[in-house]
Amino acid sequence: MAGKNRSKLSETTNISQLTGCIGAELTGFELDRLDKFDAAFIYKALLKHQVVFFRDQNFSPSSLVSFAKRFGRLETPHAGLRRLPRHPNLILVETKGGIGSAKYNEIWHSDGSFNFTPPKITVMQAIKLPNVGGDTLFASMYSAYNSLSKPIKKIIHKMEAFHDGVNAFRASFIDPDTKRAAVDGEDKLKRMQSDYPGAIHPVVIQHSETGRKALYVNRLFTTRILGLSDVESRNLLNLLFEHAEQSTFQVRWRWTKGDVVMWDNRCTMHFAAMDYGKKHRIMHRATIRD
Ligand code: OGA
Ligand code: MN
Repeated sequence: MAGKNRSKLSETTNISQLTGCIGAELTGFELDRLDKFDAAFIYKALLKHQVVFFRDQNFSPSSLVSFAKRFGRLETPHAGLRRLPRHPNLILVETKGGIGSAKYNEIWHSDGSFNFTPPKITVMQAIKLPNVGGDTLFASMYSAYNSLSKPIKKIIHKMEAFHDGVNAFRASFIDPDTKRAAVDGEDKLKRMQSDYPGAIHPVVIQHSETGRKALYVNRLFTTRILGLSDVESRNLLNLLFEHAEQSTFQVRWRWTKGDVVMWDNRCTMHFAAMDYGKKHRIMHRATIRD
């Protein structure tokens, strides 16, 4: 029997783990009709599995906002991202004719790691998909950290790295046809430069809620390890990127329309496969503050 303080859905859901490292599909949820106990149950599953997947959640952008807000305050999208016209906190992740978000999302990253306080969670809903392709891959940075050899763990212990957002989003400020600044491109670039000067984070972070250690560098945003020469920094970063990007630490999600995926940015990275040519793909995204 579901007790007064228990999630009723927790009694009927099936949590199906997708790999030995990361990812679980939760069934039986309608994310637009949760009570606070259900939300707490989902959050607990997220902390454990790092990314949780829900099929068939064909609800409106307002419902996506309400769902995301159950887990914290939403971030305002930066100038390099597009917003949904009537939902300023929702990001329109769109690729069409080979142009759009795929430009920067097809590089392994953790969302907003260039923020002083990076977002804790991202929620994404599939709105329009190519008939095949456009999967998203997720990697466990707990597993990446744990499987490093002892000597490398010792070397990176207490190291810090710089994360830069402006360079990663440079393509958003340029017109793909003329290769010159897009309409408002220069203004947006200036705004991005002043609002997001980049941030320094430890190379190994400790998750504030699980207490587990995670590797925290990513190929899209991490540009420099502090205290090393250029050559040392570049090569050590490359070693860590290549290590963390191994298939063993990954799960790959094949989207169907209406799927909602929620990931913990503190212990995962992700990668959007651009294997659908000029076809149209749209996702809605909400980013939740830490
Ligand atoms: C993003 C992102 C992945 C995808 O919007 O931050 O990484 O599959 N998207 O579109
Ligand atoms: Mn992303």
